[in-house]
Amino acid sequence: MSQIVTVHSYRGGTGKSSTAANLALLLASAGRRVALVDTDIHTPALHVLFPGAPAHRSLTDYLIGRCEIEDAAAPADTGQGHDGFFLVPARTRTGAGNELMGRGYDVGLLREGFDRLIDTLALDVLLLDTHAGFNNETVTAMAGADSLIVLTRADRLDLAGAQETVSLARRLGCGRLSLAVNMVPDGTLPDRLRTDLETAYDAPLTAVLPYAPQMAALAGERLLTTAYPHHPLVAGYRRIIGAISRGTTGLRR
Ligand SMILES: Nc1ncnc2c1ncn2[C@@H]1O[C@H](COP(=O)(O)OP(=O)(O)OP(=O)(O)O)[C@@H](O)[C@H]1O
Ligand SMILES: [Mg+2]
Repeated sequence: MSQIVTVHSYRGGTGKSSTAANLALLLASAGRRVALVDTDIHTPALHVLFPGAPAHRSLTDYLIGRCEIEDAAAPADTGQGHDGFFLVPARTRTGAGNELMGRGYDVGLLREGFDRLIDTLALDVLLLDTHAGFNNETVTAMAGADSLIVLTRADRLDLAGAQETVSLARRLGCGRLSLAVNMVPDGTLPDRLRTDLETAYDAPLTAVLPYAPQMAALAGERLLTTAYPHHPLVAGYRRIIGAISRGTTGLRR
């Protein structure tokens, strides 16, 4: 059965796009049919992480009414010849984002577009990268999620947004929530911090993702999963996939 998986964080720069890209690649490597959609129209990233993708149309073009959503999905160039891995970029030119914001659009189109992608591409997983905070695209991506992956860093700034994230997730009816803490300096989380995080997010911690200097060294040229398949961070990504697949995650009730 297909599922929609949304990666979100309250604050920017937490690692949503890199996590979404690596999860998508791991899922595709495991033979799943995956589409990765960049719903971050303000600060898109996925077209940079998969630069070879020959996308002539984008999510923005679809929302403006210039194309069908499936016209914006192109096979993602992973350099490893994955079949069944598609990328939908947020936009293909800078002005399009402003045009969309200026004109406005019917938010219902987003949800329709997600469903249509699942059908036309026969997807196992539709993976949505989001803009930080809670704009229209992000809230729609969260509301449509079968699984919501919430990324946070273990610091007070990120923790401050936890309450808002959790209460919105509850209101939207997001039943399955995976909490993952990213950029943990030496890969281990003191017990006190773990408890603080689990209390703040009212959910069990699915994965502790270590800070990986190798990722900075790659400078976005390659994904960590491709360059360092045995890295502990990749093991963390696999844990998230395992939790999503088993459906063992969830907000505490
Ligand atoms: N575990 C990690 N270890 C080291 N660097 C990381 C890790 N996760 C992400 N990064 C780096 O942190 C930076 C921000 O990551 P990314 O762009 O994925 O965050 P984001 O949440 O999508 O940001 P934005 O809110 O701007 O969309 C990138 O340079 C990325 O390579
Ligand atoms: Mg991003």
